[in-house]
Amino acid sequence: MINTSATNQFTRVNDEMGMDWGIQNRMSRMIKPPTGRSVMLACDHGYFMGPTHRLENPRKTIEPLLPYTDTVAVTRGVLRTSIDPKWDTSILLRVSGGTSVIRDDLSDEGITTSMREAVRLNVSCVALSIFVGTAHERQTLLNLAKLVDEGQDYGMPVMAITAVGKELEKRDARYLSLACRIAAEIGVQIVKTYYCEDFAKVVEGCPVPIVVAGGPKLNSETDVFQLAYNAVREGAVGVDMGRNIWQNDNPVGMIKAIRAIVHENATVRDATQIFSENKPTRKVEEPIQA
Ligand code: 5RP
Repeated sequence: MINTSATNQFTRVNDEMGMDWGIQNRMSRMIKPPTGRSVMLACDHGYFMGPTHRLENPRKTIEPLLPYTDTVAVTRGVLRTSIDPKWDTSILLRVSGGTSVIRDDLSDEGITTSMREAVRLNVSCVALSIFVGTAHERQTLLNLAKLVDEGQDYGMPVMAITAVGKELEKRDARYLSLACRIAAEIGVQIVKTYYCEDFAKVVEGCPVPIVVAGGPKLNSETDVFQLAYNAVREGAVGVDMGRNIWQNDNPVGMIKAIRAIVHENATVRDATQIFSENKPTRKVEEPIQA
């Protein structure tokens, strides 16, 4: 077992929050007990972005990555149509929505999927975006509170996603600390946020585990590995990453490398080597026989 601050934080949080057995069990399906960490694959972008580049056919994108994923984040539509129920990868179910990328304000979200449906689908956690500091701050925070109450009734963990909509510049420690702490105070079991400068301060002020999103595709694989490495070193329990994995030409190499960083404390250099070793071999064209 890796004895890291992330592991300790998760164990401590579990004990101190007196989580019910059902919630603890579901959390353990995502945050794996041997390391206290998690590699989540975010594939829920279509709920407001439509057929996102390289997620046009969700099954084609998701299936090759499932063996290396602890939890896959999807909506119920993609879950039912594109993931084989025989896979035992745990599911993080996106339950907020109601907006689309063609509108300027993405914060006007409601709850799109009931807790009853989440239980029926046997998911391990439900996820909802909060938009702190926007016109719909109150609405999204009250939606979160409702979800947490229902989660307590059903033994279902709730993840808050500290969404920034199109305002990517909001991703700083001051804003993210505020948003993560508010979510924890409302009672979520886990938060997804962005990595930022002084990220350790965000972790320090948030008494529940944090995973980091990747955001839009970065310039290089090294940048992605560095982000994942810094995040776990500064206290994140893992990543919930999408575009920087499946928009890469070598998505399997990406997720294997990130998995090594998250679960095996691999360095950026180790990760780069794993990525290179897993490059798909190019099919050599057969010469046409006369
Ligand atoms: C989509 C989301 C994504 O799950 C989240 O942003 C992580 O994906 P990426 O790494 O591509 O940013 O919440 O709305």
